[in-house]
Amino acid sequence: MYIRPRRNRKSKAVRALTRETYLMPEQLIYPLFLTEGKGIKNEVSSLPGNYRWSLDLLLGEIESCLELGLKSFILFPKVKDEYKDKTGTYSYSDKNYYNLAATEIKRRFPELCLISDVALDPYNVDGHDGIVKNGKILNDETLEVLGKMAVSQARSGFDIIGPSDMMDGRVGFIRESLDDAGFEDTSIMSYTAKYASAFYGPFRDALDSAPVEGDDIPKDKKTYQMDPANKEEALREGLLDYEEGADFLMVKPALNYLDIIHIMNEHFDVPIAAYHVSGECAMLIAACQNGWLDYEKAMPETLLSIHRAGARNILTYFAKDYARMWKTGRL
Ligand code: PBG
Repeated sequence: MYIRPRRNRKSKAVRALTRETYLMPEQLIYPLFLTEGKGIKNEVSSLPGNYRWSLDLLLGEIESCLELGLKSFILFPKVKDEYKDKTGTYSYSDKNYYNLAATEIKRRFPELCLISDVALDPYNVDGHDGIVKNGKILNDETLEVLGKMAVSQARSGFDIIGPSDMMDGRVGFIRESLDDAGFEDTSIMSYTAKYASAFYGPFRDALDSAPVEGDDIPKDKKTYQMDPANKEEALREGLLDYEEGADFLMVKPALNYLDIIHIMNEHFDVPIAAYHVSGECAMLIAACQNGWLDYEKAMPETLLSIHRAGARNILTYFAKDYARMWKTGRL
């Protein structure tokens, strides 16, 4: 036998020489849940190890993440019911606690990259990503709010704006709003192929942002998020976001959508990000807590597979643990 693939696996050093894919902590994006108040660190029961943080404690958490080598964070707000209304007006107030927190985070840690969330669901009484009227999610009326939200976030110091709402035309609308307000350097990471997935449950628990039950309120997000059966449609969304000026294209969720990550990476010359969503992380945590899987083996293998499929960046609740393993030479 002349050809023996096993020769390239014969020792740790040779395996390192022939390894095709590396995932560095700085390629990861760590999602953080923010809540209003002081001294709060409140665990999300369906996503153990993840917390709703008040800003004072979050600053310490961010500092410890930076020491481990993480550089990018995406911030999501839990909004009090008293600030919620039909059109999400609180979302674009420069003085809302989310924007004020961003300013403080960037003041303390100017070197980190802070990503926002642009969507109405945490701010809207109906729990939808757009304005609900007569049982429908309004597209163009929602864009006006998204544009204002993006500008207020840019003004507050966010480096990258993250529209997660799946309204048509929002990347172009937000790009124009940002440019008109003088924020041409603020980037857009678009949730390009975001599926109507069953794996967002723990996230909606964390933020209390699930669609509300009621007459004339759609029970799911299927009229704006994509059908899990579709792949070509992801390219169509990709083309639009690309042409509208998105700097990153995101696929979400990640693990059940590795084929989508792959084709997006083949077709577009901007970085592809993948959101390894709350339900995907929760499944693995649950199996590890039961002793059915080994976390330190299964977790990095999972992240590597998403990266290998073509995601340059991964948003994952495992970012901190991965960075710790990397730093302590366990990867
Ligand atoms: C909503 C939003 C969701 C997530 C990020 N932004 C949930 C949804 O679309 O209902 C989910 C992220 C996760 O599950 O980790 N704009």
